[in-house]
Amino acid sequence: MTSAREMFCIVLVCLVMFGVMRECNANGLRKNFYGKSCPQAEQLVRNITWSKAKKNPSLGAKLLRMHFHDCFVSGCDASVLLDMVGTTKSEKDTIPNLTLSGFDVIGDIKTQVEQACPGIVSCADILALAARDSVSFRPSLRDGRISLASDVTGNIPSPFSDFITLRKIFAKKGLNTGDLVVLSGAHTIGVAHCATFSNMLYNFTGKGDSDPSLNPTYAQSLKKQCPNPAKSSTTVEMDPRSSLTFDTHYFTILNQHMGLFQSDAALRTDKKSATMVKQLQSTDDFFFEFNVSMMKMGDIELLTGKHGEI
Ligand code: HEM
Ligand SMILES: *[C@@H]1O[C@H](CO)[C@@H](O)[C@H](O)[C@H]1NC(C)=O
Ligand SMILES: *[C@@H]1O[C@H](CO)[C@@H](O)[C@H](O)[C@H]1NC(C)=O
Ligand SMILES: *[C@@H]1O[C@H](CO)[C@@H](O)[C@H](O)[C@H]1NC(C)=O
Ligand SMILES: *[C@@H]1O[C@H](CO)[C@@H](O)[C@H](O)[C@H]1NC(C)=O
Repeated sequence: MTSAREMFCIVLVCLVMFGVMRECNANGLRKNFYGKSCPQAEQLVRNITWSKAKKNPSLGAKLLRMHFHDCFVSGCDASVLLDMVGTTKSEKDTIPNLTLSGFDVIGDIKTQVEQACPGIVSCADILALAARDSVSFRPSLRDGRISLASDVTGNIPSPFSDFITLRKIFAKKGLNTGDLVVLSGAHTIGVAHCATFSNMLYNFTGKGDSDPSLNPTYAQSLKKQCPNPAKSSTTVEMDPRSSLTFDTHYFTILNQHMGLFQSDAALRTDKKSATMVKQLQSTDDFFFEFNVSMMKMGDIELLTGKHGEI
């Protein structure tokens, strides 16, 4: 018989052995908050993230999306970083994961932060800080020890979702319609693989047609970039010609019927949401609201205090 304690050690060893992110799994339980114990953490994470983002301009989008996926599945506990334990699949072993990347970057940052402050700063915080370079410092987030593939289903919205579905998924996380619209504005940066939207171009209703609500010129240009069938590695900018700039252009193109996913276009199918899509074309409004909603997203089911580990 294995005792619970032994079982826990076995699990930890598995995490260490299988972990790309071993730095984020191996330290066991610690109880200190690092607000005082590692005051340079925030600056350090920012410095490293910025220097990496300088070399790789698409990194910001990767980290932002990873933080979103982390928060929507069992809270912002860095469980998105954990690998499979034995035969139990983790969050990484799911379809949305297939297009996540940047894990190595979080690992690098964690290693450097560990050198400055061993065992103090959680991976959850590193991911949150790295994803939002302008947030104020918050009490420590702790890392969850559980990452289940089964948790991803129904928690991460699909690009084919309609408005009602999106609103439901966000509501389950304590986020309202406003948060949904504002946070979708994250699609102002980054890219998407052709497979996530090619049905809109080639087989919208199953009759080889395209989505009639899509701007026809835009649909043409997408077809050029994503011939049917497309190579699985081909990606397009979600916010055409502005995909490296965090700006309000996403809302501008939505209003021109150039939302890439059905889930983007869906934001115009509800009256309240459509009004917000118009309003958020104002830079001041968007930046202000994005920060507020990001803070809310970062608070989903937090593991603070004694729960979780560092
Ligand atoms: C509202 C529901 C959402 C859906 C259905 C959705 C879906 C998707 C999909 C399918 C992709 C493309 C992945 C690929 O093919 O590589 C994507 C990319 C992205 N998403 Fe979302 N997303 C949603 C909300 C969000 C939120 C709330 C955030 C962050 C606050 C976010 C941030 C991003 C970013 C930054 C990318 C680009 C990633 C990259 O360039 O690698 N998304 N999203
Ligand atoms: C971050 O970078 C700034 C500017 O280069 C530097 O002055 C500061 O000491 C760095 N902070 C840490 C904690 O590395
Ligand atoms: C999940 O994504 C990461 C990073 O792309 C990758 O290393 C890992 O193998 C993926 N998991 C599966 C089961 O594909
Ligand atoms: C289009 O969708 C229908 C119904 O889902 C499917 O039977 C058909 O094979 C699809 N055609 C193509 C070209 O993907
Ligand atoms: C973001 O919002 C939080 C609270 O909602 C606030 O404390 C913080 O100062 C804001 N940061 C910026 C850069 O606006």
